[in-house]
Amino acid sequence: MSKLLIAPSLLSADFSRIRDEVLDVERAGADWLHLDVMDGHFVPNLTIGPIVAAAIKPHTKLPLDCHLMVSDPGKWVEPFAKAGASVITIHAEASPHLDRILRQIRQLGCQAGISLNPATPLSAIEEVLGIVDLVLVMSVNPGFGGQKFIDSSLDKVAKLSSIRRDIGAKFLIEVDGGVSASNSKALHSAGADVLVAGSAIFKETDRAKAITALR
Ligand code: DX5
Ligand code: ZN
Repeated sequence: MSKLLIAPSLLSADFSRIRDEVLDVERAGADWLHLDVMDGHFVPNLTIGPIVAAAIKPHTKLPLDCHLMVSDPGKWVEPFAKAGASVITIHAEASPHLDRILRQIRQLGCQAGISLNPATPLSAIEEVLGIVDLVLVMSVNPGFGGQKFIDSSLDKVAKLSSIRRDIGAKFLIEVDGGVSASNSKALHSAGADVLVAGSAIFKETDRAKAITALR
């Protein structure tokens, strides 16, 4: 089994103290920093843009894991690459031009990720599995932190892990939504490499303890 990476989702942080929150989870042992980018169109919420990512970048060594929940992802990959993103993940449901945009992300020097909403089958991304560095399985309907984990996501992760084995691919499997210490072990065993956690980390006062519990 791969080493499990933990990516705190800034969505549940105290936004009036973003820099301190980032430094706190970095000290607490986070591996990546997950940024939830929402456009009020693809999802019913509006959050942060490339300006915020660029502002955070000089203050942390953590890779910025940018999750684009936007309707027109092609328009935003370059601004996020310039802002210092390490990973840029777009949604399979958001564009008919996934192949083009994923290649563009790699050309910009970032790792290319593709994400699936809970209702989207794995078959929707079959044709691009050879050109992605990461597949993000959404285990809640995207838009908000603090939602309940959708149980069928565990099976989806296991299926994706077996497809990865069958085709000899190396992409990472990331899971996002409702992740907690009660399901992290099962997700890692099913094949997840990266776990995103918002409330399970930021709503706890002792972030190091919260991250250790997830591991
Ligand atoms: C949901 C976001 C998640 C969210 C996770 O649309 O993509 O990253 O912040 O939050 P929790 O861990 O609280 O479910
Ligand atoms: Zn996310």
